[in-house]
Amino acid sequence: MQSITKKEKEQKLQKLKEECNKCKRCSLGATRNNIVFSDGNPDAKILLIGEAPGADEDKTGIPFVGRAGKLLTKLIEDSNMSRKDDFYICNTVKCRPPENRVPTDEEKQVCEKYLMEQINIVNPKVVVLCGATSAKSFLGSKLKISQIRGQWFKILNNIDATVIFHPSYLLRNHSEEPNSPRWLTKEDLKKIKTIALPK
Ligand code: URA
Repeated sequence: MQSITKKEKEQKLQKLKEECNKCKRCSLGATRNNIVFSDGNPDAKILLIGEAPGADEDKTGIPFVGRAGKLLTKLIEDSNMSRKDDFYICNTVKCRPPENRVPTDEEKQVCEKYLMEQINIVNPKVVVLCGATSAKSFLGSKLKISQIRGQWFKILNNIDATVIFHPSYLLRNHSEEPNSPRWLTKEDLKKIKTIALPK
């Protein structure tokens, strides 16, 4: 896609969000309180894709604002990046699956239209696939997150993409020892910074 200004990106994303707001293309549309479209900078170099909104996100309409989101924000800040400026954040589906279950393949497919448009408009340098659901959507369903995190792939039209552990998993794994999931995630974020935001 040709480069467009931040203002043009904001306008296109706003239009898409309005369309998404009316969406009833899958059953999640009937149970949601709010669509959870995105957070962060539409002109960011890094686009992060999580799994699906939880209760806090459904309440506020903002992705990654609950416990997992707070940890994600801290990890980003500890890596000397800014969630607000350096990241555009969204999910594989825009509505909360009941009981926080994993979104089905059908729900992800129906919602893919919005996600693909978001990637197209933001036109990031790097896509971060956060957690197994997000990684499997782009890289195939048989992969094990512990084996692919930290690896780099080309997705869609030749966009660099990498995989990190989901912060919900890190909430259950507190160790910061070398090679622990939290330690590895910090290493992954350092690498993402070098590639997406070179000095
Ligand atoms: N987990 C996700 O994958 N996404 C959110 O927005 C919140 C929690």
